[in-house]
Amino acid sequence: MRFAVQVKELSKTYVQGFIKKKRKKALKSISLDVPEGTIYGILGPNGAGKTTLLSIIAGILLPDSGYVKVLGMDMCNSSKSREICKKINISSGHANFLWSMTVKENLIYYAMLYGMSKKEREHRVEELMDLFSITPYKDVKFEELSTGTKQRLSLAKAFLNDPSLILLDEPTVGLDPDVAMGIREIIKYFHEKKRITFIITTHNMDEAEILCDEVLFIFNGKIRAKGDPNSLKKGMKLGDKIYIEFQNENFIPTDFHINGLIEVNIYHNHATFVVDNYKLRLPELVNELMKTKLKIKKLEIEQADLEDVFINFAR
Ligand SMILES: Nc1ncnc2c1ncn2[C@@H]1O[C@H](COP(=O)(O)OP(=O)(O)OP(=O)(O)O)[C@@H](O)[C@H]1O
Ligand SMILES: [Mg+2]
Repeated sequence: MRFAVQVKELSKTYVQGFIKKKRKKALKSISLDVPEGTIYGILGPNGAGKTTLLSIIAGILLPDSGYVKVLGMDMCNSSKSREICKKINISSGHANFLWSMTVKENLIYYAMLYGMSKKEREHRVEELMDLFSITPYKDVKFEELSTGTKQRLSLAKAFLNDPSLILLDEPTVGLDPDVAMGIREIIKYFHEKKRITFIITTHNMDEAEILCDEVLFIFNGKIRAKGDPNSLKKGMKLGDKIYIEFQNENFIPTDFHINGLIEVNIYHNHATFVVDNYKLRLPELVNELMKTKLKIKKLEIEQADLEDVFINFAR
């Protein structure tokens, strides 16, 4: 397997103040591998170290120890890091651009920094403004834009150099659900069409579940868990809940033999079955119930999600 990013035993301490030094260990021996062509999520509460980790991968910050390989090259080696920067890009949900310049001027400015010719940058900027639906704002100054438009501009900027790795720090923070959904669609589109690798930090577990192939939970600078969302849920025995209310109050047997059953809780006329995957197990469960004299009055399903995993770790 090829990796877009490999991080090994990475640590970072912030030091503040001159006389009375205040130290904050933001990352403590973090290791991770991001397979090429995946969408990788970095999840964790405020202050967990997500932005610090992303900034080190992007070459914006230097670690105290450990190494970072990006696209097979050592990010902490200054001559290699310059080469890497041409092939990656970063965008933040808390975007900050040159305030008095317009949307188009800002993008042209960044395109110039990437060394594009006049013709090339005109074409690329028009194309990206169109794709991110910001053409109507092309002559509006950055300071006058809404949060959503600022975020779309920041994303458009991240695609300027046709990168093979894009780092997104909370790309949908503070956005209306429909605008956030639009941004997720764009990420998916580029991921599928161009096989760009994305590393995304987010607080939004639904977003991680929709987008990410793999996720990493980080708490207080340390990794608590990593893997694909389904394995994480299974590992924590967080299954889908099938809630059934019965018409009659017959004896509800507890000795069900269905595959993937994690837990059964029975009350007088209703029961909750926790299974690994309700789509696979529901037909079997209904079959078993049909063998009894019980009649189903109501059936509800509640799928386990990453939010449950997060809450379990945060405890
Ligand atoms: N420049 C800095 N100087 C000192 N401490 C810092 C600095 N930047 C971050 N920190 C501290 O390091 C820790 C990790 O911060 P970081 O911004 O990486 O967290 P985060 O997971 O991105 O949080 P959030 O979800 O709020 O964006 C926090 O305790 C933060 O206060
Ligand atoms: Mg952050």
